[in-house]
Amino acid sequence: MPTLTIDGKSVTVPEGTTVIQAAEKLGIDVPRYCYHPGLSIAGNCRICLVEVEKNPKLQIACNLPAAEGMAVQTQNSKVNQGRESVLEFLLANHPLDCPVCDQSGECDLQNFYMRYGLYDARFEERKVKKAKAVPLGPTVMLDAERCILCSRCERFTDEISKTGEFGIFNRGDRAEIGLYPGKKLDNKYSGNVVDICPVGALTDRDFRFKARVWYLSSAPSVCNGCSRGCNVDVHYVLDRPHLAGGARVMRLKPRYSAEVNQWWMCDEGRYGYKFIDQSRLRKVLHKGVETPWEAALTELSNGLSGARSEGKQSSVAVLASAQLTTEELFLIRKLFKEALGISQVTADLPKQPGYHDSFLIQADKNPNSAGAALLGLTGSGPQGSDLIERALSGEISALWVFGHDLVKLFGEEKVKGLSEKLCQFIFQGPNENGTSRHAHWVLPSAVYLEKDGTFVNCQGRVQRIGRVFDPLKESREDWRILLELAQLLKLPLAHHSPEEIFSGMSKEIPAFAGMTYEKLGRQGLPAGRQGAVIQR
Ligand code: SF4
Ligand code: FES
Repeated sequence: MPTLTIDGKSVTVPEGTTVIQAAEKLGIDVPRYCYHPGLSIAGNCRICLVEVEKNPKLQIACNLPAAEGMAVQTQNSKVNQGRESVLEFLLANHPLDCPVCDQSGECDLQNFYMRYGLYDARFEERKVKKAKAVPLGPTVMLDAERCILCSRCERFTDEISKTGEFGIFNRGDRAEIGLYPGKKLDNKYSGNVVDICPVGALTDRDFRFKARVWYLSSAPSVCNGCSRGCNVDVHYVLDRPHLAGGARVMRLKPRYSAEVNQWWMCDEGRYGYKFIDQSRLRKVLHKGVETPWEAALTELSNGLSGARSEGKQSSVAVLASAQLTTEELFLIRKLFKEALGISQVTADLPKQPGYHDSFLIQADKNPNSAGAALLGLTGSGPQGSDLIERALSGEISALWVFGHDLVKLFGEEKVKGLSEKLCQFIFQGPNENGTSRHAHWVLPSAVYLEKDGTFVNCQGRVQRIGRVFDPLKESREDWRILLELAQLLKLPLAHHSPEEIFSGMSKEIPAFAGMTYEKLGRQGLPAGRQGAVIQR
């Protein structure tokens, strides 16, 4: 555990820690291009220069092990002059196309030039020309002139995606990043190279020219693409919807989580956000006719209370979904199972497993299967496919479906049959699908970014999804619809927000005991741990 001083502040770090990491521990920011905490050390860009006492030359902080008694200066005139020289060298052949570069506003060449450069250019020769706007695959575009040869992208594909597409070819000022002959950048994690490229050499084909980054707002959330629940930042616009056909979400970026996804996310999650603004249900419909929310919920609650007072709960079934938040699944359990006595409530529907690997991507494409299991909505009890058969045979007369596309799961004929056989066929979900087209009632609900709540991921980690923006048009959060229904049914569910529902749940369900939204913070907590602490 060497103790060293950095800018006069003392710090003790584990053996093997580098000076750049020790500085981070003290909150001292050392500039970097090639260094990335998730990749091996290359030490080739030289921007992280620092002065070490008794050492005649400046040293690079990213590849310098901290040693006992070391005294480091990260910001003095010698260091700044060294960094200025590095920038002058890096920018000698760099094109001055910042106004049309997608990285502008979040480019570390721009940022560090403003911090350490601000010199008058001395380079009068012709800049070396290289290939521009080269598609490397379906997701990434290369501008080779902008590349500073930090090799982050190469190390990512060698060490993380293990697909090895990138190489640096040629020497001197002709050196160039590129793909090996015959290769395309088409792996499941390709978008990450855009995040880690410190300049505008690699840009995202999906995001290119959609928005200038300084118009973007950002909010933390969790990806709903599979049960891993990678932590993400959602970049969105609200005040300039004309920029991309009315879409609000502009892009997703991975957010660091030591336990879940570190710095990375997969392409399926990154580019899977289009459903948020496309093919959305915007109005309450009864047999195709627009209906006010209040009239719809009153009629549906009358039907449910009729079934309860006549003891006909077995004629009602509910297909809950592991796409819903834990709070909403808890309300479904409280409302339908416990308060109304309906036993045919399940989130167990036939699985449609997708691609998976041993890194992040899970076969289960639901973000909250673990939450549904903790609440007893899967694993035991009725199976969704049995309920469909019972509805088709006339044993069930009212079916409430949360988000599922039954057409995909059981085929068009069966869903048409349900529409003819059932007295009430209710679809509650955010997007149009085969079920919404055949249901008698369509209740438009919010997507996950439009509501607060939690998902429990495949590791059993309870994570908050946050609320990025308001529900679209007339859609409402599922928890709100359920609470309004409970109120009409005069059921004792005295909650007004997801936070209150979570608090109620933490008192009843041991896996959530002792947890609060505040304790979950931005990184979440493992289910059960708080409970165990409290029981001890
Ligand atoms: Fe570095 Fe970007 Fe060049 Fe790759 S393309 S070497 S990440 S500057
Ligand atoms: Fe240290 Fe590049 S960040 S040499």
